[in-house]
Amino acid sequence: MKDFFNYEVIAECPHTRARVARMSTPHGIIETPCFMPVGTQATVKAMAPFELEMLGARIILSNAYHLYLRPGVDIIEKAGGLHGFMGWDRAILTDSGGFQVFSLASLRNVSDDGVEFQSHLDGSRHFLTPASVMAVEESLGSDIAMCFDECTSYPISEEDARRATLRTIRWAMLCKQSHSRPDQALFGIIQGSVFPELRRLCGEALVDMDFPGYGIGGLAVGEPKRMMYDVLELMDQLLPRSKPRYLMGVGHPLDMVEAIALGVDMFDCVLPTRNARNGSVLTSRGMLNVRRQELKDDLSPLDPKCNCYVCKNFSRAYIRHLHKAGEILASRLCTWHNLHFMLELAREARRTIVDGSFPRLLEYCRKVFGDETD
Ligand code: GUN
Ligand code: ZN
Repeated sequence: MKDFFNYEVIAECPHTRARVARMSTPHGIIETPCFMPVGTQATVKAMAPFELEMLGARIILSNAYHLYLRPGVDIIEKAGGLHGFMGWDRAILTDSGGFQVFSLASLRNVSDDGVEFQSHLDGSRHFLTPASVMAVEESLGSDIAMCFDECTSYPISEEDARRATLRTIRWAMLCKQSHSRPDQALFGIIQGSVFPELRRLCGEALVDMDFPGYGIGGLAVGEPKRMMYDVLELMDQLLPRSKPRYLMGVGHPLDMVEAIALGVDMFDCVLPTRNARNGSVLTSRGMLNVRRQELKDDLSPLDPKCNCYVCKNFSRAYIRHLHKAGEILASRLCTWHNLHFMLELAREARRTIVDGSFPRLLEYCRKVFGDETD
């Protein structure tokens, strides 16, 4: 395990809990804090793998739930795993389905053994257990696999949250017992909704199980921001500093930087890719939608401060035109720019943590993106 996966802190912010680390996987080294573009269907929508590479992505996220349902793990295994199947030879993290099965599938029947559900694609019936999810993730051959967990929605009663938390702890143990690929790191996932006692219970139980890294789940599901940050503060006290922490599903620029300040290392979010396809782009002055009428004769780039390929070569007016005309290049260019923005923000965080100016980046993000969250 040590040979295949390693995490080493190389710098700590003198002002916050932020840190820079080097994480090695069988498919390369990742510097953290890092942003992981989302490739649910074994593709980061609109981007070819060599383009992700050019953007500086060193790890992407994919989903066991989706790939298990379609195209199925057999063909992916035959292709040499997910890396071979999709032609991406850098690191991949797979989510277990613990979120998707609770948000996408219908007619769910959850028991302590697993989840019975109907596919959101064709209504076919399936039963997923911690052991079967481990088998799926091992077949996919990702570098980092996430445990099967029960992600709760918000709001939720403490009683229901406790049930899900206890189940998540039990499933983490079962996942660990059945996981057998030495070249794949298995991360535990901490649940507990917004209840400190449950977060502590789950955190302590999973730390005892000694996973090589920890996902923090069940957040950014509609709770007030303050509550999410409080949970992250508690997690920072509970989790070993010597292991990576992954805040699942979070990736609004401000949330990412706030969470970095609280000691989180890894992030993923569909926002930059999904919003891009609706013409919504992230800029150094906040969010901008390219459909806006005023951009009709605006020949400036999406973001004058951005040095990505898109901003160096195309204008707002042109991209607005492409979007209005329904051209697929609009989606590609906006996705390119947004991924560049998030990856650059993570690079900026790493740089400023090292040189001691990270609090300035945090202040800047609060100023620019402060009114957009919540
Ligand atoms: N993605 C976003 N939140 C979660 C979560 O709580 N669990 C899992 N498995 N995936 C997530
Ligand atoms: Zn740009």
